[in-house]
Amino acid sequence: MIRSKMISCGSYLPKKILTNKDLEKIVDTTDEWIVTRTGIEERHIASVEDNEKTSDMAYYAAQKALDKAGLDGSDIDAIILATTTPDQTFPATAVTVQHKIGMSANGFAFDVQAVCSGFIYALAVADNFIKAGQVKRVLVIGAEHFSNILDWEDRTTCVLFGDGAAAVILEADEDASEGIQDQGIISTHLHSEGEYRDILYVDGGVSSTQTTGKVRMNGQEVFKHAVKRMSEVVRETLEKNNITSDDIDWLVPHQANKRIIDRTAKKLNLDSSKVVLTVGKHGNTSAASIPLALCEAVEDGRIKRGDLLLMESMGGGLTWGSALVRW
Ligand code: UT7
Repeated sequence: MIRSKMISCGSYLPKKILTNKDLEKIVDTTDEWIVTRTGIEERHIASVEDNEKTSDMAYYAAQKALDKAGLDGSDIDAIILATTTPDQTFPATAVTVQHKIGMSANGFAFDVQAVCSGFIYALAVADNFIKAGQVKRVLVIGAEHFSNILDWEDRTTCVLFGDGAAAVILEADEDASEGIQDQGIISTHLHSEGEYRDILYVDGGVSSTQTTGKVRMNGQEVFKHAVKRMSEVVRETLEKNNITSDDIDWLVPHQANKRIIDRTAKKLNLDSSKVVLTVGKHGNTSAASIPLALCEAVEDGRIKRGDLLLMESMGGGLTWGSALVRW
């Protein structure tokens, strides 16, 4: 069977760091409140002076992933870029990255929008293109410029998010066997529930207000759904693959709130030492958060070739999903 191997990853975080102490000067908040309620200490913010765009961050991350794999743009058949904060309404941010890395017109590039679940959705789409035999190498990117859609007067949201990008390269392994032993994406699981589209959203859009809008969230409601849905999808993934949480080497969760991650891990009896946690330094970077966490743990040597990874996310929509991957 064909399996999508993850052959490399690369990440980019903007230089500017905004700490909780900095936020105390902007809104009525405290470092103590933010750390206790979310686990976030600081986040990176894209440069306004340098007009640092989502496509720039995505390109830097993609180029790193290419360099690590010893490839260049001409080796890539498709780019699938997950973002909620594209450079423009159209064209897709992915085609700007295509142009920057020098990928030929033999392939294709497009964006995926599933907010904080965007990376898992993009991964699932890419995996299915590979399994269908249509492409051999895909760049899957999560990139976000969330600081531009925050209401910097709303303390309930502006303290939570950050900017950044990360990319993985998937490559077809045409000789893989069934089961969980071989490297690559073993299964993906996607869900959405439009009934709850108004508990996390932006209050603007092209066809409604002709503005970009700012993030609005009913935090407590989202929190409840996040713990419930992420625990469910993790169980679904374990059951589908006939494994238990003991088989998982690393949980690489969406990084929205340390308390959500802790509760999900606890529900699964997963020891906290098996959880990759980056929310403290990155904040919630939406579609970029899972690949950023993955890259960090790969680069610092925690995640090793052959480790079994469980990625899971929940975001606006509501959308949620998971991916079981042997690194
Ligand atoms: O990535 C997409 C998914 N997003 C999420 O998963 C986020 C899910 N939600 C959360 O993480 C949490 O609900 C929050 C971190 C957003 C909020 O934590 P909470 O424990 O649910 O707090 P709360 O909304 O119940 O607010 C408690 C109090 C309120 O004051 P009163 O009404 O008790 O007087 C808020 O006004 O905290 C107040 N508050 C703040 N105080 C200081 C809200 N934001 C702040 C703030 N600084 N930044």
